[in-house]
Amino acid sequence: MSATDGVVRIALLGCGTVGSQVVRLLQEHGEDWAARSGARLELVGIAVRDVSAPRAPWVPRDLLTDDAEGLVDRADVIIELVGGIEPARSLVLRALRSGRSVVTGNKALLARHGPELHAAVEQGDADLYYEAAVAGAIPVVYGLRESLAGDNVLAVVGIVNGTTNYILDEMSTRGLDFADALAQAQELGYAEADPSADVDGHDAAAKAAILASLAFHTRVGIGDVPVTGIRHITAEDIAAAQAGGHVMKLLAVARRTDAGVAVRVHPALVPETHPLAAVRGAFNGVVVEAEAAGRLMFYGQGAGGTPTASAVLSDVVAAAGHAMRGGHAPRESAYAQLPLLGPDATPARTQVQLRLADRPGSLAAVAGIYGEEGVSIESVHQQRSDDGQARVTITSHAATEASLTRTVERLVAESRVQEIISVTQVEGSE
Ligand code: NDP
Ligand code: HSE
Repeated sequence: MSATDGVVRIALLGCGTVGSQVVRLLQEHGEDWAARSGARLELVGIAVRDVSAPRAPWVPRDLLTDDAEGLVDRADVIIELVGGIEPARSLVLRALRSGRSVVTGNKALLARHGPELHAAVEQGDADLYYEAAVAGAIPVVYGLRESLAGDNVLAVVGIVNGTTNYILDEMSTRGLDFADALAQAQELGYAEADPSADVDGHDAAAKAAILASLAFHTRVGIGDVPVTGIRHITAEDIAAAQAGGHVMKLLAVARRTDAGVAVRVHPALVPETHPLAAVRGAFNGVVVEAEAAGRLMFYGQGAGGTPTASAVLSDVVAAAGHAMRGGHAPRESAYAQLPLLGPDATPARTQVQLRLADRPGSLAAVAGIYGEEGVSIESVHQQRSDDGQARVTITSHAATEASLTRTVERLVAESRVQEIISVTQVEGSE
């Protein structure tokens, strides 16, 4: 929709953690954003669930409404920061189909209903912007959608959930237990309303799907992403990781192989020397490997109201500029339609912690299983204990997922193995 009178009317749907900061930054810097986009930006209304609820003091109460549909119909650009699927989906479709551009931070909606949203973009000749949907303030959507449009991306490996990175970091550095670290992340505004979206990996899976779609010009939805969260990670696992020179991270991994594209989310051990090991607290980091550009790293604040509002407002400036001067955001690029591969398709490394009867032949039996399954061992670390058991940590070289799974199944059945304490992926292909 073009702005004919030099004014771009903005509707804000949602005024919570992110939306309230969008209002504040628009008030404080609106003149700059106007100069950059060439349009005066007028916030014409703010749709919320409960108009009588307390708000940040800078939120103009006279703009609040519970008629989100009516608000969409009287704006040029819609900022959707409600979250979840409905009513966000219906509101975004209503806007796009009527030619109104949408700026959203809603990764769940994009990862579940991407094709429908992109069809609505075509139908209404509108634009869809979603920089805030992945990794908060970090311009990784722009990086993949625009900066790397002239390259071939081979892999994207990232820490894209601030809450889980914060939790794992607090567990590692301050010895907090999982529940206390999660409560802190919620107080700081990092966590989703339903924290299972964070700790069970679904938020990261939605972001992985968005990143993979952009990186590989292939439609990837959240249902295509196998996911394991961090609920089961114990202080013992964290300590073992540290003892082995690793850091525990929840990773989103998307790789292109000759056969297609493999995407997944899982906790992984990252060597202390890996660039992602330095991503601490609620920060996010995404490493992109491209054929011509080589390795790039994107790093910054991946969650929180103000950092995320920065990404939202960069899209608002772009949308307003296009409304004023013409032009469009890039459309969906899914021409490649590469096959989506299962978890077996790419080689992986694992670290297995187990308790072993401390007697002759035990370690040889375990090593024999690895050898017979064709899995090469990179390192073995054994701790003695007084009760006739040894705690052994075995790190493998890269092997197929199927052979690693068979190895663990045979370890479970081996009588000298008394307990498999954990099986964790190790990032890196050496
Ligand atoms: P909040 O839960 O803090 O805010 C949601 C807002 O939406 C509230 O103002 C709420 O109204 C309003 N709302 C809820 N339901 C309705 C409805 N049916 N009609 C109208 N308004 C409604 O969410 P966040 O600000 O944290 O997140 C917003 C979006 O941004 C989500 O998609 C999230 O995934 C994404 N995001 C969030 C980040 C973060 O760090 N928080 C980072 C990156 C992206 P009321 O206030 O009356 O309850
Ligand atoms: N809950 C999300 C996170 C917010 O922790 O990263 C950003 O999407």
